[in-house]
Amino acid sequence: MATMMHDDGAGGLLDNLAELSNLTSETILDQLKRRYEANLIYTYVGDILVATNPYQMLPIYTEEVQEMYKGASNKQLPPHIFAVADRAYEAMLYSQVDQCFVISGESGAGKTESTKKIVQHIVELCRAGNTELEDRIKTVNVFLEAFGNAKTVMNNNSSRFGKYLELRFDRSGAVQGATLSHYLLEKSRISFRNDGEQNFHIFYQLFAGLKDEGRLEHYGLAKPSDHNYLRGAGAPSDEQVLSSHFGQEWREVMGSFEFIGFAKGQTNSMIDMLVAILHIGDITFEPAPHDSVTITCTDKHLALIAKLLKISFEELKNAIVATRNITRGELVTRNFDEEKAAANRDATAKAIYARIFSWIFRSINDILKGNASHDCLVLGLLDIFGFENFKINSLEQMCINITNEQLQQFFNQHIFVYEQEEYKKEGVDFSKIDFVDNQATLDLFLKKPQGIFSILDEESRFPKATDLTFTEKCTAALTSHPSRAFKPPRSQRDLCFTITHYAGTVEYQSTNFLEKNRDTLSQDVISVLAASTDPLVSQLFDPTANANATVSTNKRQQSLTAGFKVSLVDLVKRLKQCHPHFVRCIKPNAEQMASRWEEDLVSRQLTYSGVLETIKIRKMGYSFRLPFQEFVTRYKIIAYKFHENPMQSSETCQVICSHAKLDDYQVGHNKVFMKYNHAEVLADLQREQSSALVFLQKIVKAHVARTKFSSLLQEKRKQDRRVTDFLTIAETRGTTCTLRMDKLKEEDAAKQEDRKWLTRVKKQAARAEARRAQKEAERQARLEAIKNEPAKVKTLPHNGFFVWERAEHLDLHVGPLPPPWKKKIDKRTNRHYFKNMESKVTTWVDPRSYEYRKHDPLETQGDELPYGWDEAETEDGVVFYINHLDGTHHPEHPRVTAQRKQEQIAKEQAEQKARADERRETLRVLRDKKRRLQGQLAEATDSTAIANLHQRIEAIDNVIRREISQLESVQSALRILQQVLENQRRKRHRIDPDRAVRWAAARWLAKIRSRRAPVQQTAF
Ligand SMILES: Nc1ncnc2c1ncn2[C@@H]1O[C@H](COP(=O)(O)OP(=O)(O)O)[C@@H](O)[C@H]1O
Ligand SMILES: [Mg+2]
Repeated sequence: MATMMHDDGAGGLLDNLAELSNLTSETILDQLKRRYEANLIYTYVGDILVATNPYQMLPIYTEEVQEMYKGASNKQLPPHIFAVADRAYEAMLYSQVDQCFVISGESGAGKTESTKKIVQHIVELCRAGNTELEDRIKTVNVFLEAFGNAKTVMNNNSSRFGKYLELRFDRSGAVQGATLSHYLLEKSRISFRNDGEQNFHIFYQLFAGLKDEGRLEHYGLAKPSDHNYLRGAGAPSDEQVLSSHFGQEWREVMGSFEFIGFAKGQTNSMIDMLVAILHIGDITFEPAPHDSVTITCTDKHLALIAKLLKISFEELKNAIVATRNITRGELVTRNFDEEKAAANRDATAKAIYARIFSWIFRSINDILKGNASHDCLVLGLLDIFGFENFKINSLEQMCINITNEQLQQFFNQHIFVYEQEEYKKEGVDFSKIDFVDNQATLDLFLKKPQGIFSILDEESRFPKATDLTFTEKCTAALTSHPSRAFKPPRSQRDLCFTITHYAGTVEYQSTNFLEKNRDTLSQDVISVLAASTDPLVSQLFDPTANANATVSTNKRQQSLTAGFKVSLVDLVKRLKQCHPHFVRCIKPNAEQMASRWEEDLVSRQLTYSGVLETIKIRKMGYSFRLPFQEFVTRYKIIAYKFHENPMQSSETCQVICSHAKLDDYQVGHNKVFMKYNHAEVLADLQREQSSALVFLQKIVKAHVARTKFSSLLQEKRKQDRRVTDFLTIAETRGTTCTLRMDKLKEEDAAKQEDRKWLTRVKKQAARAEARRAQKEAERQARLEAIKNEPAKVKTLPHNGFFVWERAEHLDLHVGPLPPPWKKKIDKRTNRHYFKNMESKVTTWVDPRSYEYRKHDPLETQGDELPYGWDEAETEDGVVFYINHLDGTHHPEHPRVTAQRKQEQIAKEQAEQKARADERRETLRVLRDKKRRLQGQLAEATDSTAIANLHQRIEAIDNVIRREISQLESVQSALRILQQVLENQRRKRHRIDPDRAVRWAAARWLAKIRSRRAPVQQTAF
C-alpha cells in the first residue's frame, strides 16, 4: 500500500492512517477532516479504504487517472478506489483466489457510487474480454436504480435493497459472466413512506413516460397525486413528475430493457402490473357489520385492476375483503376487518412489486450468466445498507443491523479468529493479541431455539400471539444472554427492547414485529393472481415454481426473518470463499452538501463502521502470512543470489526476514507471520531486485542484439553513407552545372558578336584551305606529270656556255601558265624565259617551279637543284651553277656549298666550345685554389702570412676575371655562330604567299581562344 505524506503546511497528511504514531479517534478524525478539506477523499486505514463522500464531482475518475492506477499495486500512488479495484483484480489473477469487496456505510455515504467506480475500473482492466457483457453489466444499473432506488431524507438516490454482484472471470482475467443477488428490498416503501421521502423512482418515471407516450388515459391514470401510493408529505408535485427528468429516465429504462433483451410482451405485462399496483393502493373500504368491510371504490376501478392483471373481477373483489378456507370439508369464509383488509390490500401491492423485482433479477442473471464455467474466478461486490439507528427502529432496522453485525463478524473473523486458529496451528505466540468477537451477539439473534428470530418466528405462528407477548418472551429468555447485549424494556408493558451492537446501542420498537414478520399474503390473493391469463403474472405467483423461493409457497409461508436468515447465511458463505477488500464509506454531513464536515456524524460512522476498532486490531495482528514455500520463492531474491536455491525452510525465511529488517514477525511451523505493512516493505525490496534484474537482462539482451546486428548496421551505415555521398555529389554537381550553365549563357550572350566574326573567319579559313588544297592537288598532278621528264636538255651555246633546261616546258604537262605570266623564247639563245605581263618583270625561272622545286639546297638529292638554280657548262666542258634569283655563278652544287658552310660553322662551334670548356676548367682550378687560400686565411694568425695570402687571392681574382671575360667572348662567338646557322636556315626557306592567309586565320583563332577564360573548377 502506498504511504505518502502531503505537506499542507499544518503538519503532514498521511495516506495510510495506520502509520499514525499517536493512534486515537481524535487524530484519525483530524486527519480525515484535513484530507477532506484538501479534497483527498480516499484514505487507507491499513488495507481498508475509507471513502468520504465529496458530494461534488472531483476530477479523479478520468480515463487518465484510471490509466495511472492500472497496475497500481506496483506504484506509489495516493489512495483511490481504483487502486483497491486494481489490487483485488491483480490478487485474483496472481493467487487465483476469489476476491470480494465489502462496501459499507450509511445511506448516502457513497456505497453505490463506489461500487460503480470499482465496476468501471475492473471493466477497464479486463477490456480484452466480453465487451457485450461489460456493456450489459453497466446497463443493468439503469433499471436496478429505477426499481430499487428512491429519494430519502438521507440520499436523493438511495438504494432500498442490498446488492451482491458477482463478476466471473476465466483464469486469464477475461470477464465471463455475472450474477446479481439482492437482499432486503424495502417493499414497505410501496405503501408507507416517512415525511420527505418518495416511492421508488419507477412509479414517477412510469407516469411521466406514459404521459409522453399519450397512454395515461389508456391506463386509467391522470395525475400522480390522485393515487395514495404517490401522495404524502415530501412527494413531488404533479408538475414536477410530469415535466421533469422522469420522462427521460423512463425512456432510458425502457431502452435498457430492450438492450438487455427483455421481450416486448414481458415489458408490457410489467408496465400493466406497475399501473395495477398504483390502482390497488386506491382501493378503499368502509366498516360493515360482523367485523367485515365493504369496498367503497367503484367497480370500474376494480375492473380496471382485474383487466390489467388479467384476472377475474369477482375473484379479485372477494380476495380483497375475505379469506376462505376449507376446514373439515367445509368452506369457511373469514371476513377481514378494516385494518386487516387494508393490510391485505397493501400486502398484495407489495408482493406484486417484490416479485417483479425478483423476476427482474432472475432475468438479468439469465442474461448475464454468460458462458462461465465452474472453473472460474469470482470478484464479488457487496453494496449493502450500513448500520442504522433511528428514533424509531423497527424490524427492518433490526435485519439491517444484524447484516452489519454479521459483516463485522466476517471482518473480525477475517482478522482475528482465523488468525487465532492459524497462530495456534502454527505455534505462533499470540498472547499479545486481543480479540474482539461478536459471535455472541449474533447468537442472540440467530441461534435456535433461544434467539430473537426463533422466538419471533414461533410467536408469528401463534394466531393469538402479540407484539407484547413476543417482547415478554424475549425478555424472559435473553436478559441474561451470555452476550450481555439484550436489555429488556424499562416497563413490562413497553413494546421495546435494547440491543448493544458492536457499533452502538439501538432501541427497537417491537410494534408490528409479528405482522411484518409474517409477511403474509392471503392465499386467496395468491391463487387469484396465479390464475391470471397473463403469462408473467401467473408465472410470478405460480405456487409450483421454485423460482420464487424467497417467498415460500407451501401452506405455511416462510416468515420475513426466516427468508432473511437464509439469504444472510448464503451471503456469508459466499463471502467466506473470497479474500475480502473492505471499503468504508463516510458521509461528511447530513445535508448532502459539498465541503461540509460534521464532526459528530463522522465520528459516529467511524465507530459504526469498525474503522476505529480496525486500526487497533490491524496493528496488533499478523495479517500478512505466507507458507514457507511461497515466501521463499517470492522473496529469496532479497537475501540470496539469483542462482542460489535455498531450502524452503523456516531458517531460510528467518534469513530473508532479517535481511529485510522486518521487526515483530513470527515464523510458525509452516508459515511466516508478518504485520500488514511488511508486505509493502518486502515488495519494495523485491522491486529493487527485480528492477536490477530487468536492468541486467536489458543489458545482456542489448549486447546480444548489438553483436548480432552490428555488422548489419555497419553495412547499412556504409550504404547510407554512399547514398548520402552520391546525393551530395549529385546535388553539388547539379548546382555547379547550373552555375556553369548560367555563366556560359551569360558569356554566350556576350560572345554573340565574336561568334559572328569567328564564323566569318572560319569561312574564310575554310575557303583558303580549299584553295590551298586545290593548289596542292594541282601541284601534285604537275609533279606527277613531270616525273618521267628527261632530266637534262642542253641549250644552244650562248656566251660560250650551255645551260641545262629543266622543266621549262612544264606547260606541256601541267597546263598553261597562270596569268599574268607568259612563256617566251629568247631569240639569241633560243631559250625559254618567262614574263609577268603586268609588272613586265622577266625571269629564266618558271614561276611554277616555286611550288615543285625544293627551296632548301640541303633538302635536294643527287643532281636535283633547288628553286631558282640552273646547271651550266662552259664550251670547254666545265660545269658550273647559276642562281637566277641573284644572277650569280657558282663552281659547285649549292648543296655542297651549303653543306660546307654548315660544316665550317659546326667546326667553329666545336672549337669555340672546346675553348669555353678549357676556360671553364681553368676557372674551376682557379676557384679551387682560391678556396684553399681562403681556408688558409681563415686559419692563419701570422699577419705577414695573412697579407701574403690576401695578395695571392687578389692575384687569382684578377686571373679569374680575365678568364671570365675571355669565356664570355667565346660564348658570344658561340651565340653568333648559332645566329648565323639560324639565318642561313631562314634564308633557305621561302614563305608561300597563300600560307600567309592561313597563318592570319590561325592567329585570330588563337587570339579568340585565349580571350575565353577557362571555367573555374570547384573542388568537391
Ligand atoms: N465519489 C463520489 N463523487 C461525487 N459524488 C458522490 C461520490 N460518492 C457519492 N456521491 C454523491 O452522493 C450521493 C449518494 O451516494 P450513493 O452511492 O447513492 O450512496 P449510498 O449508496 O451509500 O446510499 C450520490 O448520488 C452522489 O451524488
Ligand atoms: Mg446505494
